[in-house]
Amino acid sequence: MQYRTFGKLGWKVSQIGMGTWALGSNWGPQDDGESVRALHQAIDEGCNFIDTARAYGDGRSERVIARALKERSGGDPIYVATKVPPITEPDWLATPYQSWQEKYPEQHIRDEVDKSLKDLNVDCLDLVQIHTWSRAWNHDPMPFEILKDCKKQGKLRAIGISTPEIDQNAVVDLIRGSYVDSVQVIYNILDQDAQAEIFPAALEHNVAIIVRVAFDESSLTGKLTKETKFAEGDIRNDYFAGDRLPRTVDRVEKIRETIGNSEPNMATAALKFALKPQAVSTVIAGCRNAKQAQMNCAVGDQPPMSDELEHQLRDHNWRRSFWPAGK
Ligand SMILES: NC(=O)c1ccc[n+]([C@@H]2O[C@H](COP(=O)([O-])OP(=O)(O)OC[C@H]3O[C@@H](n4cnc5c(N)ncnc54)[C@H](OP(=O)(O)O)[C@@H]3O)[C@@H](O)[C@H]2O)c1
Repeated sequence: MQYRTFGKLGWKVSQIGMGTWALGSNWGPQDDGESVRALHQAIDEGCNFIDTARAYGDGRSERVIARALKERSGGDPIYVATKVPPITEPDWLATPYQSWQEKYPEQHIRDEVDKSLKDLNVDCLDLVQIHTWSRAWNHDPMPFEILKDCKKQGKLRAIGISTPEIDQNAVVDLIRGSYVDSVQVIYNILDQDAQAEIFPAALEHNVAIIVRVAFDESSLTGKLTKETKFAEGDIRNDYFAGDRLPRTVDRVEKIRETIGNSEPNMATAALKFALKPQAVSTVIAGCRNAKQAQMNCAVGDQPPMSDELEHQLRDHNWRRSFWPAGK
């Protein structure tokens, strides 16, 4: 495993980190024992950065991580990044009319930090990220001041933001304003938008970048077909709803042609593509079993993707949220 510097905090983090959404909720059935084995496997492979959130099963993902870490004694530090959820009424994302006071009231932030301390079974959290954001609050980003106060109280070491999927660049002003130590962002072969503003701003301000969804919720592993069925309760029933699955599979097949024999498999290429930008500190690959943890962490030891292939893959950027671009 190779390690990279985590922004101005200077932590040496594994370039392949572990994402644990599926260990908590929203991905269909998941056995806690298998989750614990996956975490042990990742750490055995040199992974020292784990991403979680209160929202992943109301602390279930955090509790599973605490269980795995308790089973290991000593050793080098394992960094665990968690997230404070918004108030989810009426929806996860803020409506155009909602203030930060409605989505992230002060007492809610403080209570969620305390719940994370309890569920992760630690005295101090490594990194607390605000789980989603609205650019409407950039002129008055008080939730970060509240987290700063929690930091002063010794409850956390560092503060981050996770981008809202529908407007990732909403966080650029927070980078420029030095409100955050890290930004968690979607960046993959199908969604390369972070190259435009977020990565340059992060480099300029020495803010760590955590890449999420490097597999595009698994399509970029190359294993989905137009006939794939997801389990009940699996978020991918929504993410790939309607004609999205066949359209995605068609795109992925073109990506497979571009990759050819240059990389051993699609999943490896997806992770190496996400690791390529200089701004990236770690790519949190979502892993739900030990085999995936082993396969994904192994990429952290391999030579980088060639510049030539990375440039060819730039052509596969897909502006999925841009209505006039068509379906
Ligand atoms: N708003 C936010 O802050 C936010 C949103 C999304 C994610 N995240 C974080 O980012 C992490 C990564 O994103 P993600 O988990 O949503 O998606 P992802 O990393 O794009 O995809 C993960 C899924 O791909 C499949 N997979 C993983 N490794 C594989 C391999 N080697 N071969 C074949 N299939 C493999 C697994 O699902 P199956 O085995 O079931 O196919 C796994 O659950 C999350 O776990 C979470 O920590 C944060």
